[in-house]
Amino acid sequence: MRAVIPVAGIGTRLRPHTYALPKVLLNVAGKPILAHILDALATHDITNVTIITGYMGELVKEFVKKRYNSFNIDFVEQKERLGLGHAIWTGKETYKNNEPLMIILGDTIFDVDLSLAFVSKKNSIGVKKVEDPRRFGVVLLDENKLITKFVEKPQTPVSNLAIVGIYYINNPQLLVESLDKLIINNIRTRGEFQLTDALQRMLESGAEFTTFNVEGWYDCGKPETLLSTNRFLLEKYPSKKELKNTVIIPPCFISDKATVENSIIGPYTSIADGAIVKNSVIKDSIISYEAKVSEVLLHESIIGNEAEVNGTFNKFNVGNSSTIDLD
Ligand code: UTP
Repeated sequence: MRAVIPVAGIGTRLRPHTYALPKVLLNVAGKPILAHILDALATHDITNVTIITGYMGELVKEFVKKRYNSFNIDFVEQKERLGLGHAIWTGKETYKNNEPLMIILGDTIFDVDLSLAFVSKKNSIGVKKVEDPRRFGVVLLDENKLITKFVEKPQTPVSNLAIVGIYYINNPQLLVESLDKLIINNIRTRGEFQLTDALQRMLESGAEFTTFNVEGWYDCGKPETLLSTNRFLLEKYPSKKELKNTVIIPPCFISDKATVENSIIGPYTSIADGAIVKNSVIKDSIISYEAKVSEVLLHESIIGNEAEVNGTFNKFNVGNSSTIDLD
């Protein structure tokens, strides 16, 4: 099996962090989003991987080559960001006819047993029931739980089974043919070549699709979802640590290569390698590689690699019955 991970997007919703780093290299619960995905693949012995790069692709390549030398990885550049379907089409030379594909979006972390995807041996789409399906691609099912239709961002509520971003494709050749048709005939939806349009074509050519449930679906596309994913991962995979002159309120991740002194850390805080934190109180935050934080109170904050936040202690001379609010 081959995993295909498209990571060419610009990540505009995560600016300013994505001015300096591609979204997949942003840190959550102690390691980059992409590391969470690749580590999950390794537990399923999936080591053939195609990574579709684009925005800041060299940084992605450098990171992966340094950390994942046991994988057999093809990097393919998507020169123009023309949509997810186009991204997957870009990697087509690396796909082999008899090698099934596991497509995993590069900005989402999943907590799921991936073998659920290929147990039926049919094409299979990861789905989750959502309240408001209008923001997602959805699937319609028949009485045998086979997909009868893919609909991208439905404006009328035809189904609440949202496509979460993991796709198992047992017939890569048919997928590539369907994508070829979209691209050659310039068939776009909302200006982009959509993967769901290609899947719909596969369905119309007679391919069978089933679904598997993905309850643990954690988006990393916006600051607030990156922080909520950080909270989830810290809760799920707690790590224990004790530091002199620092109080740690779990769950937290503090790298052994970080320096933390005279502070109160947590809950829900991750501090990456090389970060230096002194005289601070930090909760519900992500402190990235080699960031420096001193003398501040932080919550719901994301501090980028090598960024610095320096606060100060206030000095007051306050008389009886006075009130001072520092908002
Ligand atoms: P998104 O729709 O989240 O786009 O893509 P984005 O650029 O990453 O983020 P925003 O919307 O600007 O904030 C979902 C996934 O598909 C990849 C992205 O890299 C992301 O992993 N993608 C999307 C591509 O690789 N190429 C494309 O043309 C579109």
